[in-house]
Amino acid sequence: MKWLVTGCSGFVGTNIVNYLIQKNEEVIGIDIKKPKINNIKLFKFIKFDLSVRKGLKDYINDVDYVINLAAIVSIPYSKKYPNKTKSTNVKIFRNILHNINIKKTKCIIFASSSAIYGDSLKNYEKKKISNFFSAYAQSKYLNEIDAKNFYKKYKISLIGLRYFNLYGSFSNANSRYSSVIPKWINNLIKKKVIIINGDGNQSRDFVHVDDIVKINYMLAKNFGKIKTFKLFNIGSGKSTSLKTLLNYLVKFSKIKKYKIKFRPSADFGVMESKANIKLFKQSFKFNFTKLDKGLKKTIQFYER
Ligand SMILES: NC(=O)c1ccc[n+]([C@@H]2O[C@H](COP(=O)([O-])OP(=O)(O)OC[C@H]3O[C@@H](n4cnc5c(N)ncnc54)[C@H](O)[C@@H]3O)[C@@H](O)[C@H]2O)c1
Repeated sequence: MKWLVTGCSGFVGTNIVNYLIQKNEEVIGIDIKKPKINNIKLFKFIKFDLSVRKGLKDYINDVDYVINLAAIVSIPYSKKYPNKTKSTNVKIFRNILHNINIKKTKCIIFASSSAIYGDSLKNYEKKKISNFFSAYAQSKYLNEIDAKNFYKKYKISLIGLRYFNLYGSFSNANSRYSSVIPKWINNLIKKKVIIINGDGNQSRDFVHVDDIVKINYMLAKNFGKIKTFKLFNIGSGKSTSLKTLLNYLVKFSKIKKYKIKFRPSADFGVMESKANIKLFKQSFKFNFTKLDKGLKKTIQFYER
């Protein structure tokens, strides 16, 4: 089977491409950045800006499954550049929808985000688009609307996954937009100060990227057989405070000395984030990686 993975050079994309290759699947990867995986028989990389470039059809006419990950992903960045974030993320997804072969493609899985919930898991559907917490959240919500409309018209399986906080191998640790786990592991290893935004009591639902990879594969294969539109929250269903997270990282990395600095929260007031995974659990049997196990594996990756 042939897969298209957009955003193949990013954190999740790299893990997904590695997994698909191991499964002996053929992959076309698209990104504006160079991939971390070399071109081999099963993996062909195409450098392509999905938000502006035409001519996508020629490359993706024969794909069976699509996993769309390409996006501007940082919420702080999207606060700074809202129009660019929104239009890029919307254009990327529309470019894919308008250029896939609807007769051949079995399933399109696209990355949405828990960011659309903002500070409440309830009532987000009643919110006006302008009331979303960030342009990033708006763009993900607009992707979901586009997907639903596309499904209604063409009856191709479209599955949106609202990811919570993902962590694991290949997550960028060196950008100022890096997420907390790679940033803190990196700072512990390099003996740099650990910055805690807020008081450290805010909690997040952390999910290991190995789970994301398996879920994408499982869902594509399942929903490729039928025609449906679905949205799933993808989190562990458990929430861990940043203070507890730091304790784990210190314990598992065996670092004895480290410095902490508290800074006003940049998190836009979201104190607790926890996925409601009832729908996903009703539909699939899946055991999420325990946080301690996932963190140990992630630390090993950054210590290499
Ligand atoms: N990492 C998380 O915790 C998390 C949480 C919720 C949702 N998501 C979503 O999951 C997806 C993957 O996230 P990630 O953490 O791997 O992000 P990432 O930034 O590591 O990867 C995104 C990739 O998309 C590429 N890209 C951006 N604009 C592009 C364009 N115009 N054309 C082609 N490629 C382009 C980037 O170069 C990058 O390699 C994203 O859509 C993100 O919004 C991630």
